[in-house]
Amino acid sequence: MGDVQITHEVRHDAADRLNGHLAEVKELIGRSLEAKKFAYCPYSKFRVGAALLTHDGTVFTGCNVENACFCLGICAERTAISKAVSEGYRDFKAIAISSDMCEQFISPCGGCRQFMREFGANWDVYLSKPDGSHVEMRVGDLLPASFGPEDLKGKKSNIMNEF
Ligand code: THU
Repeated sequence: MGDVQITHEVRHDAADRLNGHLAEVKELIGRSLEAKKFAYCPYSKFRVGAALLTHDGTVFTGCNVENACFCLGICAERTAISKAVSEGYRDFKAIAISSDMCEQFISPCGGCRQFMREFGANWDVYLSKPDGSHVEMRVGDLLPASFGPEDLKGKKSNIMNEF
């Protein structure tokens, strides 16, 4: 009987944690949807928003910012990460990404995956739809067998970098 009760409590704790986590995720996705409203995308007309959660709970948002010189455009995720880093934040818990696509979850481009990975492979990425539904992944899942800052600590050549 005692065992049954303990199992019950454990289940309640787990359910509470899951509900708390879901509420946090929904909140962050909500922030990314808000950020999407500021997207500057006159060329692609493809709006993207991002909301980045840092270790102390501060959230930095971002949107895509395009340019008449197309290759200079910046993605929403990189805008948010650059905003955070430029204000002294490097420790991230999660990033939520949103777009206007109702049929599929927005998925970060390869460049943004590498940009996220710079700050670790073990943090969450929420790929969302406009209705707030989402898929949860880790940076490391999105960019397996990645190259990161640690790899630069390996052996380097001592040749002069000249022709
Ligand atoms: N874009 C993002 O901002 N994030 C992504 O994850 C995918 C693509 C932007 C870049 C460009 O402004 C527009 O979406 C179309 O590619």
